[in-house]
Amino acid sequence: MRIFKFLLFFTTIICWPDGFVFAQQKTDPISIKNKMEWFEDAKLGIFIHWGIYSVKGIDESWSFYNKKITYDDYMDELKGFTASNYNPEEWAEIIAKSGAKYAVITTKHHDGVSLFETKYKERSITEKSKAKRDLIKPLFSELRKKDIKCGAYFSLLDWSHPDYTGFLKDSSRYSISSNISKWEKFCQFNLDQIDEISKQLNPDLFWFDGDWEHNASDWKASQIRNQILEHNANAIINGRLQGYGDYETPEQNIPISRPAYPWWELCMTLNNNWGWQPQDTAWKTPFEIISLFSDVIGLGGNLLLDIGPREDGTIPSEAKFVLGELGGWCSRNKSAIYNTRAGLPNGFFHGASTLSIDSTILYLFAPGNCDSQIVLKGLKNKIIHTEILNRADQITPKIVGKISWSEVPGRVFITIPSNCKDPYMTVVKLTLDGPIKLYFGAGGFH
Ligand code: GLC
Repeated sequence: MRIFKFLLFFTTIICWPDGFVFAQQKTDPISIKNKMEWFEDAKLGIFIHWGIYSVKGIDESWSFYNKKITYDDYMDELKGFTASNYNPEEWAEIIAKSGAKYAVITTKHHDGVSLFETKYKERSITEKSKAKRDLIKPLFSELRKKDIKCGAYFSLLDWSHPDYTGFLKDSSRYSISSNISKWEKFCQFNLDQIDEISKQLNPDLFWFDGDWEHNASDWKASQIRNQILEHNANAIINGRLQGYGDYETPEQNIPISRPAYPWWELCMTLNNNWGWQPQDTAWKTPFEIISLFSDVIGLGGNLLLDIGPREDGTIPSEAKFVLGELGGWCSRNKSAIYNTRAGLPNGFFHGASTLSIDSTILYLFAPGNCDSQIVLKGLKNKIIHTEILNRADQITPKIVGKISWSEVPGRVFITIPSNCKDPYMTVVKLTLDGPIKLYFGAGGFH
């Protein structure tokens, strides 16, 4: 996981109501809080890793970098990349039905192959592959018809570019200090391509990757940020820009406690790889995805769930299945997911939970196959109403161990009627008498 470094001397510090501190770049044209609003409410995004690596079904870019295949054999895949069954309308439909509110697609991975229209033709899908067309623009247009926000993944490092420093794991081309003008040329190329993406696609979100090979000043990170925001002041930038991003992006590792960032997004594969690999059958089940998604939103984050289409543009049926089940669950439980905030801290409930923005409604998530009775601890509020979301309008919790003369709350036992269980994850909705108040004490000895 990458560490989000805030460059304080360039920034204005803003305090978040619940104690977080984050930084906004001084040159930003609008307030970061307004800009992040849709992202904070969205909860679910779909990540798409599509590129020539799907021709042979090998690791995206890393396969030549790590010398599992020669560079020439890797690039030969350009000839086999057809996009012959690519149907952006169908992709947008699948994404919308999954419950996702945004999607992020690889416009260029570490292999330097561009899937968008670029004046740099050497490694462009539009020029060098059988697909012969811009693959990003039609997807963004279909997504936007469905009100889904559009994100462009862009690798800062480009192991194919002759002016880039790095190439294979054990051989690099040069060091910046030995040839500054070459590096300047590369930075201009990056800025130009990022500008092409801004102007042609106007992404709602820029998702950078590969920043680990150089520092902020080498990448000209502040220039990249300013250039993007000059074109679209509302564009969100992920955290892989050496301190110049807006939110943090842990990868594959699911947090246990709430990360200390105001906004974060876990990116995760549906099986074990980002791109399409036929031998990888380790698909996560709908329950596994729904339970980790619940954990992520309960900890105040978003999930960016990855799919890897084949070279012809078909999405594997296994991925479609999981996204369909996830979407069904999201639509049954909308109010517990979208526009909510992080739920209870660890220790109060054995499972995930979320809160309404004003924190007067608490949603508890219980696995579909759990025991019928769930327990909530330390709630000081009075519960006005309890229901199983979309299943039972009213149920009555039992308060156990509440002593009239003590301020220590009793335990709330809730029995989920067996005919009200969701096949994957049941949500219990508790309406409280006001903003949530919790008891953190040791029991009150006398
Ligand atoms: C890593 C990998 C890359 C993948 C990305 C997704 O940075 O280098 O292959 O695209 O994670 O988050």
